[in-house]
Amino acid sequence: MFGLHYRLERKTLGFVLAVIGVASIGGLVEIAPLFTINQTVEDAPDMRVYTPLEVAGRNIYIREGCYACHSQMIRTLRDEVERYGPYSLAVESKYDHPMLWGSKRTGPDLARNGGKYSDAWHVAHLNNPRDVVPVSIMPAYSWFLRTPLRTDDLGKHLRSLRAVGVPYTDEMIANASADAYGQAAPDSPFAEGVSKRYGEATSVRAFDGKPNELTEMDAVVAYLQILGRLTDAAHKPAVATETAPAGTKSAEAKPAETKPAEATPSGGKP
Ligand code: HEC
Repeated sequence: MFGLHYRLERKTLGFVLAVIGVASIGGLVEIAPLFTINQTVEDAPDMRVYTPLEVAGRNIYIREGCYACHSQMIRTLRDEVERYGPYSLAVESKYDHPMLWGSKRTGPDLARNGGKYSDAWHVAHLNNPRDVVPVSIMPAYSWFLRTPLRTDDLGKHLRSLRAVGVPYTDEMIANASADAYGQAAPDSPFAEGVSKRYGEATSVRAFDGKPNELTEMDAVVAYLQILGRLTDAAHKPAVATETAPAGTKSAEAKPAETKPAEATPSGGKP
């Protein structure tokens, strides 16, 4: 063994080829799984794109560096799943450019924060975290409530997102500013277009509690409330339904007694 190495080292070409051969094993281990990416990354036909208001909120989240303290990716570890909910799927980040998975958790993971608290809680918390969580070390973002949201450039934001693969239509891009306003003003004539373009399930309400004003608070709260709710894919019992039919005889006999009730977790949404 060592004799072979000794002789190989003295043959330049042989040694170079051996180095290339050994190094390429590492490369193959990294590259080969990518050939099966179509099978491994799940599909989510029910997934919708972010509305212009949510995009604006996301941009503020990036501007303020919230990702420096909050991650948006629940790992498959048991303690994380028990604390935050179903682990994050790749498809859930499909429209995130740039992704905000993060690697630092000074605060909790936010991947499934949507629907966990009321809008009023978020407004109070962002305005001054100590008002609702006395021991909180999160900074206050009190200017969100008094800063009008800039909407004139949202069409351009949607267009750039489309350039990297998010399926925004020309209509969505043309109406971006009006839709941002309409989503936070349910009684305005612009509200209807939001449900028409982004689906009936889209929340249209005064997120900051002030129906006549469009503030940065509206955008950030709208964004926080959609986290983890663009698709239901992570809540579907994919594994349970897929493995059942492929079971052996002894496994086939069982499902009738116990399984069905467990296979569909109640509700699905957080
Ligand atoms: C210096 C670190 C830090 C920064 C920056 C920060 N946070 Fe936090 N955040 C925390 C900590 C710590 C908590 C837990 C205590 C609390 O609830 O206030 C928290 C809690 C939260 C929660 C409640 C999570 C839950 O499930 O209870 C939300 C929502 C949140 N932050 C949003 C934001 C947003 C939006 C921004 C940016 C505008 C931001 N945070 C910036 C540290 C931070």
